[in-house]
Amino acid sequence: MAGSLLGLAACGGSRQIATTNSKGLKDQFRNAFLIGTALDSLQVAAPEKETESLIGLQFNAITAENGMKAEHIHPQWGRFDFNWSDRFIDYGQTREMYIVGHTLIWHSQLPDFVRSIQSPDSLQQFIQQHINTIVSRYAGKVDSWDVVNEALNEDGSYRQSIFFEKLGAAYITDAFKLAAAAAPDAALYYNDYNIEQPRKRAGALRLIEEARKEGARIDGVGIQGHWHSGKVPFEAIEQSIREFAAAGLKVAITELDLNLLPAPPKLSGAEISQRFAADPALNPYPTGLPEAQQQQLAADYERLFRLFVKYRQQITRISFWGVNDRQSWLNNWPVPGRTNYPLLFDRENQPKPAYFKVRAIEVN
Ligand code: XIL
Repeated sequence: MAGSLLGLAACGGSRQIATTNSKGLKDQFRNAFLIGTALDSLQVAAPEKETESLIGLQFNAITAENGMKAEHIHPQWGRFDFNWSDRFIDYGQTREMYIVGHTLIWHSQLPDFVRSIQSPDSLQQFIQQHINTIVSRYAGKVDSWDVVNEALNEDGSYRQSIFFEKLGAAYITDAFKLAAAAAPDAALYYNDYNIEQPRKRAGALRLIEEARKEGARIDGVGIQGHWHSGKVPFEAIEQSIREFAAAGLKVAITELDLNLLPAPPKLSGAEISQRFAADPALNPYPTGLPEAQQQQLAADYERLFRLFVKYRQQITRISFWGVNDRQSWLNNWPVPGRTNYPLLFDRENQPKPAYFKVRAIEVN
């Protein structure tokens, strides 16, 4: 829905009342950047009513949290399942939202058939068919694609994914070229976690420079933004925005959430294959968030959004990874069954102190 993010007047029911009576984050930051959320599969397939009105009030961009990942959308060689993704696109279009496709080439959440591919040629064929089919189906509808996700190690070297092992870094160039050919108007992003950290940031800049040299179009960088409250790397984030912008890249914060729970000792970054056993010591707030942590979260979010507003010329979009604390993936990753509080809205969709801090920031 590029360029058409205005009214939601066509939507009926409670949302219409909510939008006319009050303004949400999307209105507050309208002159700065888009405000997005990830939508999990159920929120599109069987919408919860209250969550639905909150989404309509607060957000003007949506990302598919899981439903467009290869294991769901391309379960078998040559067989695609667009059942959910069509509904997701329809959801965004009906509400005139900016639609983010997440993600085309990623080493996680791959269908089994891809993991068992042996020859480089077949893998190359998979990449071609995958990108051509999905991106052209949604050309003119998906506004921005996370074309390649998490291709780097923490030291900035290339991750030894199945793609890199069989095809070398050329798979990245190819992926961006294929996406550009299938959807010339979509914004194309490289997305990663910890990419604000100096070594990984330098690796991303190298990766992008190399791909561009080979003729790929890369419009922007997605900084995932899975950070820890109390340990948000503000300086590294600011420096990254400057360096990416200097390289002619737009910046989006693509998966923002601030984890409040203790990290298992060996956790590093947001690699989703890392899992740890449930342990009460790792779940200290099962019945509610203490005031000190609530205030820390609010202070972190406020400082982050002040920084984002400072760089509004460079930043296209801030997307949260989920609507409310109840739905957040951080309740189950990297430790199952925890009670986490990483977003601006609580388990009942009520705004938290962090929301009001962000809401008070002036954007002129
Ligand atoms: C996560 C989803 O939120 C979970 O529901 C799923 O079980 C695993 O993946 N980086 C990404 C996202 O790019 O796709 C991941 O999403 C979180 C880390």
